[in-house]
This record gives sequence, C-alpha cells and structure tokens, in this order.
Amino acid sequence: MAFPDAKLATVAALPQRLRLEPELHAVQFYSKDETLLDDAGRAVGEALAAAGGAIVIAADSHREELTERLKQHIDLSAAIEQGRYVALDAADTLSRIEIGGFPAWPRFAQVVGAQVARVHHAAGDHLPAAIFAEMGSLCLDAGSSDAALQLEQFWNSLAKTHSFSLHCAYRINSFSRPRDGELFQKICAEHSAIIPSESYTLLPSEDQRIRRIAYLQQRAQALEAEAALRRAEERFRLFIEAVQDYAIFMLDPEGHVATWNLGAERIKGYKASEIVGKHFSCFYPEEDARAGKPRSILNTAAAEGRCEDEGWRVRKDGSKFWANVVLTALRDREGNLVGFCKVTRDFTERLAAQKSIEESRRKLQESERSLRELSLHLLHRQEEERRRIGRELHDSLGQYLALMRLKLDAMQAEGSETVQNLAAECAGIVEDCVKEVRTLSHLLYPPMLEEMGLARAVSWYTEGFTERSGIQTSLWIAPNLGRFPPYVEAAIFRVLQESLMNVHKHSGAEAAFVRLTRRNGHVILEVNDRGKGIPPSILEGRGPDWQSLHGVGLRGMNERMRQLGGSLELVSTPNGATVIASVPVGPPSSSVS
Ligand SMILES: Nc1ncnc2c1ncn2[C@@H]1O[C@H](COP(=O)(O)OP(=O)(O)OP(=O)(O)O)[C@@H](O)[C@H]1O
Ligand SMILES: [Mg+2]
Repeated sequence: MAFPDAKLATVAALPQRLRLEPELHAVQFYSKDETLLDDAGRAVGEALAAAGGAIVIAADSHREELTERLKQHIDLSAAIEQGRYVALDAADTLSRIEIGGFPAWPRFAQVVGAQVARVHHAAGDHLPAAIFAEMGSLCLDAGSSDAALQLEQFWNSLAKTHSFSLHCAYRINSFSRPRDGELFQKICAEHSAIIPSESYTLLPSEDQRIRRIAYLQQRAQALEAEAALRRAEERFRLFIEAVQDYAIFMLDPEGHVATWNLGAERIKGYKASEIVGKHFSCFYPEEDARAGKPRSILNTAAAEGRCEDEGWRVRKDGSKFWANVVLTALRDREGNLVGFCKVTRDFTERLAAQKSIEESRRKLQESERSLRELSLHLLHRQEEERRRIGRELHDSLGQYLALMRLKLDAMQAEGSETVQNLAAECAGIVEDCVKEVRTLSHLLYPPMLEEMGLARAVSWYTEGFTERSGIQTSLWIAPNLGRFPPYVEAAIFRVLQESLMNVHKHSGAEAAFVRLTRRNGHVILEVNDRGKGIPPSILEGRGPDWQSLHGVGLRGMNERMRQLGGSLELVSTPNGATVIASVPVGPPSSSVS
C-alpha cells in the first residue's frame, strides 16, 4: 500500500527503525493531534498492509480517528475478523492493569501480554506486531508521572518475551514546566527512539535542525542545573526544618516571621501555622517589647550585618526561657535588605549551671578569705604569745634565777666548806639556766629586734644558729640597710627563723647563706642552703595560697609576706633550696621608723 505524497515530509523525518522493526520502543512528543495520528496511522497501517498484526491502545477520540484513517487504505474489517487488528480504550485497559490505582506487572502481563500473543498468533507469528499505546500519557494527564514511567518499564519487560515495535506518545506541553525536565529525560531513557515534536520535524533544512538541537541542549543543561539547584535547596530546607536543637527561621525586613522549623516549634511552642506572619516581638517579655528591644536588635543587625543577644524570651504558654539569639541580615545582590535569619538556642539549663558554678566559686573565695583571715589571726596570736612567753621567761623566771644566784653567792661566803662547794656548784648550774632562759626568751622574741633593728637581730640569730645546728651559715648584709617599720622587721625575722629551721630539719646541708639587702624599694631576705632541695611534689602541689601544704612554716611565711604586700619565692634545684622574701618598704628615707 502507499501513503499520499503530502505526508512524505513528515515520514522522512521519522527514524527509519520506527517501521516494523522488532524491539523498537519509540516515543513521540507532539503538539498537534493531527501529526500524531498521521504517524501512528502510518506505522500501524504499514504493519497491517504487510499482513502483520497491530494493536492500538488509545484515548477514545484518537482511536476513532485512527480507525477512520486506516479504513481509507486497508480492509480493516478483514484484519479485525482475522484477529490481526485490535483497538482498545486506553482508560479502560489502564483500569484493568492497575492494583490500588497503580499499574501492576502481573495484570499488565496478563491483559496486554495476552493480547500481543493473540495478535501474533493471528498474524502467523513471523512478523512483529506494531503497537500504538498512550496509557502513559493518560497517567501523566492524571498527575502520576511514576505510573507513566512504570508502564514504560513494563513495556520493556514485555519486549523480552514478545516481538513487537511499540509507538508511545506524549503531548509535548505535558513537560512545559521547568521541573518537568527530569521526568522528560527519564521517559526518553526508557525508549530506544525519540520522535521530536513538529517544531523540529518540520524544520526544512539540516542546518536549522542542528541549530535547534544545540539550542535544546543548552536549554536542557540550564534546566538540569536549575533542577539540581532546586534539589539542593530542597535538601537544605528539609535539613533546616528537621533541626531540633536550634530554632532557625526567617523574618521579613519588618520583623514578621516568614519561615519556621521543628526546633523553633520545640523551643517556642508555636506551630508554623500559628506564628508565620506574626511579628517576632511576641517572643519578648512585655517590658522588653515595650522598651523597643526587638526593633533595636533588627536595626543593629541591619546596620552591622549581625547582632547577638542573650536574654529572657517568652514561649507560647507564657513560660520564659533564657535564649541565645543570633540575628543575621540577609541582602540580595544589589545590597537590598530582604530579611533576617534568626537562630535561637535555649540556654536556660546552661544559665542555671553557670549560676551554680558562680555561686560555688563565690563560696570557695569566701572560705579561702576566711581561712586566710584565720591564719593571719593565728600568726598574730602566735607572735603575741611568743612575745609574752619570752618576756615572762626573762622577767619572771630570769629574775628568780638571778635572785637564786645572789643567794648562792652569799652561801659561798658563809657556811662550811662542803656547803660552799655545793653552793658554787649550784651557782654554776643556775648560771647555765640563766643563759638558757635568756636564749630561749630571745629566740621567742629577740629584744634587740626592737632596740637595734633587723640587721643586728639577723646577725645575732645567724651566729646562734651556726652554734646550735652545726651548719656553717654565712651572712651578708647590705651596708647602711637602715631600719624598717617594726611589723616589717618582725616578719622578715620570722621568715629567717623558719627558713633556717627548715634548712636544719629538711635540707641535710652543711652550709647555708643568708643575704639581707634593700633593692628597688624592697627589703629582701634570701636564705640559701646546699642541701637536697625542696621535693617537686611540694613545690608543684602547693595550690593557690599554698593551702595544701601540710606544715605551717612555708604557708605562714607566705601569709606574712602577702599581708605586707610582699612575696615569698621558692627556688629549688637538686643542689639546694633558696627562699626569697621580699617586702615593699619604699625609698630609704621614708622607711626608717
Ligand atoms: N630547705 C629545705 N630543704 C628541703 N626541703 C625543704 C626545705 N624547706 C622546706 N622543705 C620541705 O617543705 C616542706 C614544708 O615545709 P614547712 O616549713 O611548710 O613544713 P614543715 O617544716 O614540714 O613543718 P612545720 O614548719 O610546720 O614545723 C617540708 O616538710 C620539707 O619537705
Ligand atoms: Mg618548717
């Protein structure tokens, strides 16, 4: 059979494979029914004219029109009678292959597969059947692109067991929205040949067609990029919406809520439908809202790009929470303010924890202060006690011993020889007692400290220490050291006593050095020994204010120095330890009492 010449231009544009080739799965995009019917009619007509089989599964109007066209060239009644031609209603067939409103393979295989097999049988099995089907297009019109794609895949599966050439068709304007690009590509991917719409096939020259393809390629790429961007935006939107620990939402330039996320709902208690469009000042306590705080935060963010704030905010139920808020101004490419992004975190628990840490710190400082006061008080009491006992020993016991000595001297002058000898012996013992008592009383509180000053007392004590301990102690005192306030002299003297006592008790040294100087408005005492040094555990573990030291020596010295605004430094090496005590005394003239 022959088709009229008027149709040749269109036919020439069609892929040759569309004609009666097995395993051809072509898709045609069309805008005019006329074009589709011409092409479908030609394919089906050629198959029937060659004594082959054909199946048409089309919408009512297309089916009728197609039948009319075929009748003009073919003995359609005979073909129908022989079972070589079957025309089915697309909507009806679709409903028969669906389960739960979606195409199902068992039904498809049963309904469509059986039909193909019957037509094959009628046509003598040796020719491929030509099928024209537009059920997919029907699905797309009903809004289910997934169903359309599923159908195309079913046709491909059916082609594995049945030989046919398939011609599907979709209206090109079903893909006119930018987001349809992806679906369009997926549908093309399911087909082995694509028949572009009339705007392409009717182009008269190859050059124009190539230009058209290049243009479409560019558009497809742009659409793909746009779709990728939209997908990324969508993912980001979903991500923001799903965040639960942060309220992340947008405000318009005036401060009305424009978007909302799960975190915002969780923290503030509003659902998106309740809050979008409302002014964000409703999150503020009334007094802050009245004082214009929301407006001023917006202004700062607009002016500086960003504004961070912490304070009380109000939930939907009226309860308050402590919020940390970061507001960022959003501007378009031209720099116009388009709104704000607001990130809010609930810091109520953190605030409570912070308050309790501050409270504990305050209590700790308080107890440290009272401990220091107590130790200073003890030091003062100790000083007074030493002075009192020293005086007592000197004035009371010393006087009695002196009196006893006089009496014994008198006994030596009188009485028998035996008595005189005993008296002399006792006088010697009493003399030793007097010396001991004096030393003891002077060690407790050296009278020369007040009378003759620090330099003299230090030198007296160092000499006595060498004698008592056997540790050779050298002394260097700056010439013209001068005098200092009594409490400074007493404190430095006590540091000397305690340091040398430590040298004796702990260092194992055979020699020590004492140096007393005045430098840069400070009186400085250095006590150095050549012993084993202070154990690192003591130096490192002494803690603030040296509170963790077990002995009271170093701690007491440190307290005394701090009380006078001075310092105590410990330097220790495996070759010995040095204690450096320093007290501010001002320039020489003002320091003399
Ligand atoms: N010159 C030193 N050489 C080696 N170790 C020392 C020296 N001075 C102090 N120490 C170490 O530092 C520790 C703390 O000294 P601190 O004077 O505070 O206490 P203490 O002498 O043990 O007891 P207290 O002074 O109360 O009688 C000592 O126990 C000792 O281990
Ligand atoms: Mg000590």
